[in-house]
Parts: sequence; C-alpha cells; structure tokens
Amino acid sequence: MATPRINRRGAIPSALVDTPKRPRKSCRIAEVCEPLVGREKEIQFMEDVIAEHMKSETSGSLYISGTPGTGKTACVDYVFRKHKGKKCLINCFAVEDCRTIYSQIWSELRGGNDGGLPLTPSRNQRELLKLEGMLQEERDIKLIVLDEIDQLRTKDSTLLDRIFGWPTLPKFHVIVIGVSNGLDLTTKLSLRSAVKTPKKLHFTPYSAEQVTAITAKSIHKEGISVHPTAVALCSKRVANRSGDIRMAFSIVKRSVIAAESPSKKLNRSEGSENEPADVPPVDNGVKISHVQAVMSEQSSTKTLSTLPTQQRILICCGLLLSKAKKPITVGALDSKYSEIRSSQGLPPLSQTDVVHFCELLASLGVFSLKKNSKNVRLSSVSFKSEEEAEFNVVGKPMMDSILNGTIGGGI
Ligand SMILES: Nc1ncnc2c1ncn2[C@@H]1O[C@H](COP(=O)(O)OP(=O)(O)OP(=O)(O)O)[C@@H](O)[C@H]1O
Ligand SMILES: [Mg+2]
Repeated sequence: MATPRINRRGAIPSALVDTPKRPRKSCRIAEVCEPLVGREKEIQFMEDVIAEHMKSETSGSLYISGTPGTGKTACVDYVFRKHKGKKCLINCFAVEDCRTIYSQIWSELRGGNDGGLPLTPSRNQRELLKLEGMLQEERDIKLIVLDEIDQLRTKDSTLLDRIFGWPTLPKFHVIVIGVSNGLDLTTKLSLRSAVKTPKKLHFTPYSAEQVTAITAKSIHKEGISVHPTAVALCSKRVANRSGDIRMAFSIVKRSVIAAESPSKKLNRSEGSENEPADVPPVDNGVKISHVQAVMSEQSSTKTLSTLPTQQRILICCGLLLSKAKKPITVGALDSKYSEIRSSQGLPPLSQTDVVHFCELLASLGVFSLKKNSKNVRLSSVSFKSEEEAEFNVVGKPMMDSILNGTIGGGI
C-alpha cells in the first residue's frame, strides 16, 4: 500500500481518513503497518551501516537510542527481517537469565537449534567459547541485534562490554546493533572497556506531522472513519507530550469505542466482556468531539510513559493485587515488588522508597494514598482509574510478563 502523503501544513487528505465506513469495536490500529512511515532516514541509515560492513567484510557496531514509542523496535525488526545473512535478534527483556545470553545468541545464529539442552550458566560459558570461535573462523559476517539492552546492563555490566567488544577484535566477523532508551550507554561502554565507540543513531520523538502520517495510514488500513481535524488534534497532543506513537494509537482506539457507544463510559476497556452486544454503530465515524472527550479524560491522568521502571513495576504490583482482590497497601506493594525484582535483577526498594513512590504516583493522579499513622505498611492505596493505569504500563515486554504472571506475578 502506498505511503499516505501529507501536505505542507501536515494535514492528511481527507479521503484517507474520512472514508464512509463505520468505526469498529476492536480495531488493530497499533499493528505494524509497513513500510514504516516517518522513519525512512533511520531505516536507510541502518541498512547503509549493515551494507557497508557486509561489502567491506569488516566488523562494526551501531547503538540506537530514543525515548519510548519512537519506532526503534519496529524499524530494527524491519531491517532485520530484510537482512539475508546469518543473524540473531534478541529482546533482552525476554531473557530470563542473562547468564544464558551467549547460548541464546549461539543457537539463534545456528537457526534456532539449541540441541534441546537446558539454558544453564555453565552451558553458557562453553557456548561463549564456541560462539567466539565461530565469529572468528567463519568468514561471513553475522548480524547480532540486541533490543532493550538496558536490561543486560542492569543485570550484568560486563556482558555488553564483551559483546560490543567483538567488532573491535581482530579476526572477528560481526555487526552488533544495540537498542535502548538511554543516550548514555555508549559513554559507559567505552569508559569501562575502552571499546571503540559504536556508530550512533538517535530516534527523536515523533513530530505532529509524523504522528498524523502514521495514524492516518493505520486508520486507512483498518477502514475506520475519523474526521481529519480529529486526527490533527490528536497528533498535536501526542507531539507536545512525548512523541510516543502508542499514545496516538490509544487515543484513536478509545475514540472509536466512544463513537460506537457514546453513552458508554469512555475509560472502559476495548472488547470488555460487559459490553452490550447490541450497541448500534455510529454511521458518521469518529468525530472531533469524541477525540476531544478522550483527550480531556487523559489530561486528568498525566501520561506515565516516562515513569522510571521501578514506579511502573509498582503500578503493575498494584494491578496484580487488585486483580487477585487483595487489599493494596504499602506493605503489600513492598512485598510484591521484592518478589518481582529479584528475578529481574532490579535494585531493592526500602519501605521509605515505596512510600515515596506511592506519594509521587498519588501526585500524578495514579494512586490515592491514605496514610496509616500507626503502621505505615497498612497505609492504603487505591487506583484513581485502574484502567488508565494499566493502559499506560502494558505494551512493554517486562510489564506484560509481570501482569501475565510469567515474572514473579502469581499471587
Ligand atoms: N513509523 C511507524 N509506523 C507504524 N507503526 C509504528 C511506527 N513507529 C512505531 N510504530 C508502532 O508503534 C508501537 C511502538 O513502537 P516501537 O515498539 O517500535 O517503539 P520503541 O521505540 O521500540 O519503544 P520502546 O522504547 O518502549 O521499546 C509498535 O506497535 C510499532 O509497530
Ligand atoms: Mg522497543
């Protein structure tokens, strides 16, 4: 499908968004719509770096940074899929034990063949040697992509030094690409091990024009009818807040729900079981007023996309307790966090930290906190809007795993 063009003012041709179709209950607007709009330069840069090293048969490294929701993973996935040589892509959030990372790289490079052996630290050490041998002996260049590498740094700082050190060693044939949110990782890498600094690529937050173009393309693909001014309003809001495209998708999705069932409360989740089956769809699609209503509801709860990991995990802890119908107290949050953090290699939080974070989250309108002056652990916490809170933490692999109970999440 052709990429939608936007005119000089950033407006989208109305034909793209104002199709005479009905909004739908469950729209898949956040699904990747390729080719990716607005990231042509970044994709080209990645492809050029890879092509240059493949052609000259030299090793190299690239470090990709950018705030959440700027399309890093989507672009890296795209470039990776197009690459024809031997390759491996690992999302470090999904690596349960970083002491098995070399085994995972080794087996991915061999086409996912891990010989059926369990991933253990001792096997990892053996496979590190085999892997390094392979990277030296085989002449074809291997592409290793590590997404969310902050995770590896948190758990074991030496891993990244070693992996980013490979392209600098004589006889190695490897391109290493690392992706993370922070900008500072290359400095830390080179300070620690004097590895040659990788090439860098920074994903800036999406501009209003880019948000408009991406959203328009998804809307068009889904055949949803959205007023062009409503899209423009949403794009401006997203660009002014964080440039996180997930926020635009969420506004559109919720506006679709609002348009389908105007009498329904806006913050009810999409596809909720309680939805009346016979709500008549609205023929005129998503109007400006629907988007405005969703945005004003969001304003009352500040965006959580920039919250530090520990605070996001505390939100997940609260959600888990609530789902299990257990009282949410400072003590319960503290215990749940400790359970999760050990498996994730996150730093511990003291009880004072937990109280401090609860106060912060209360000031952001996420929690309500009722302090118990006699026993601080019994201070009660409740969500202002559980759904809004969940909405802002889901989507990250680690948070999803916690909420699905695959990381210390069982109650
Ligand atoms: N240019 C784009 N066109 C279409 N969809 C996009 C684009 N950029 C991002 N998306 C979609 O938006 C969502 C978030 O993007 P992505 O996961 O790539 O962000 P990210 O920068 O990796 O964020 P994080 O730092 O949180 O990992 C994904 O569903 C992705 O497919
Ligand atoms: Mg990502």
